[in-house]
Amino acid sequence: MSDWRNAVLLSVLLALSVCVSAFVEELDDDFMKTRQADDIWLIKFYAPWCSFCKQLDPVWHQIGSELRSLGSPVNVGKSDATANTGLAKEFRVRSYPAILMWRKDVKYNYVGPRTKDGILDFANRVAGPLVRSLSSLQLFQHAMNRHDVLFVYIGATSPLKGNYTSVAEELIVHTYFFSASRDVLPKAVSVPSLPAVVVFKEGTYFTFNEERDGDLKSWINRERFPNYLKIDSYTLYAMGDSGKLVLLALVGERSLCEESLRYKSLVEKVAADYREIYSRNFYFGFMEGTDYINGLVMGEVTVPSFIVVNLSNDGYFLPLGAIGTERHLLDFLNGVLDGSIQCQGGNSFDQRVGRFFYDAKVTLMPVFSQAPLLGCFLVGFPVVLAAVFCYLCCKARPTMSGYDDGLALIASSQQRRKKTSDKKSD
Ligand SMILES: *[C@@H]1O[C@H](CO)[C@@H](O)[C@H](O)[C@H]1NC(C)=O
Ligand SMILES: *[C@@H]1O[C@H](CO)[C@@H](O)[C@H](O)[C@H]1NC(C)=O
Repeated sequence: MSDWRNAVLLSVLLALSVCVSAFVEELDDDFMKTRQADDIWLIKFYAPWCSFCKQLDPVWHQIGSELRSLGSPVNVGKSDATANTGLAKEFRVRSYPAILMWRKDVKYNYVGPRTKDGILDFANRVAGPLVRSLSSLQLFQHAMNRHDVLFVYIGATSPLKGNYTSVAEELIVHTYFFSASRDVLPKAVSVPSLPAVVVFKEGTYFTFNEERDGDLKSWINRERFPNYLKIDSYTLYAMGDSGKLVLLALVGERSLCEESLRYKSLVEKVAADYREIYSRNFYFGFMEGTDYINGLVMGEVTVPSFIVVNLSNDGYFLPLGAIGTERHLLDFLNGVLDGSIQCQGGNSFDQRVGRFFYDAKVTLMPVFSQAPLLGCFLVGFPVVLAAVFCYLCCKARPTMSGYDDGLALIASSQQRRKKTSDKKSD
């Protein structure tokens, strides 16, 4: 009796697993030849040894089944990048897991948090029209309610619309692009002349002006975040493209103490009340937890505290004294802008080396405290390998003294590093 039940259970499970896996196709190097030109694909590249990839597996199945049940045109696939190197090369996979969309021969890289909602939103955004038309006041209002930041092209077809569409093709990974005619907008919105590109955020709106704002793409990159927002490490990293500085209130990770709440609301108030003055140069926000900022400043920052970060060069600014009032915070911002507060950190070679060692220390510390032997092995093994390597190198060329040879080796490797870093800065 129980055998019979087990058999039924087993076959149901088997059938289920076949159903589930059918939502996600395993892709190999032949994919490039067999796929249809107008197919849209969402692909995860993984490596068998990568634990983040394994964590993503159940999410990936859910995404596959959800897109299928919604009748989405998006096909979901995955590919072992270590086995299908041709495909991985085609998609320029550099780290795992890599999440990409492929549509009309354009590849879009997903960089947000690896959650079901984040990835589904990305897939639906990239798979839909580049520019979505808002044909009625209701649709416009609906879009306003759904999006914190809303870009809208207003007017008939024009060269500006052409520019807008080509920017959309590139930046659709980050934000939605809409278009509307003048009569769809609420009466309160006044646009100086048409056609125009307008961004709506936080109850107000700004019109793009090529003379003042530069080219459309960098303006959209600059304005695509809300003026004040909760910031996680993904968002902060992405904000680097905007070229703006970010004023952060760093607060505790879980329940916020009264002091943290005060810091948060001070930043929010300054962001709203002084938008006209500072929004060209600053974004404002709060960040829960300090791991990311600790890595940036290479130390433990206290909570709560204020920091301004320059993501273009990994620099940061700290207030000179305690900040108790709005006036103090404004003085801090002005000090950053007029250069009276020194920028610290940065992305010079020394800083990058320092940050590498800091990260290594932070990663290895818990290993040492939990399993000292394993820690010693992890640190010791590469050191021994390097020593053996150096020894063999020196020994291989008996004509020069080992000492000179060692120096030459270091000098040439430094030269090489300098060359590559020069190339990078080009
Ligand atoms: C479109 O973009 C080009 C260059 O990116 C620029 O020179 C031109 O003025 C733009 N046209 C309009 C109408 O904005
Ligand atoms: C931020 O970094 C960029 C790139 O290095 C630099 O041009 C800019 O002046 C910096 N901003 C401030 C306020 O230091």
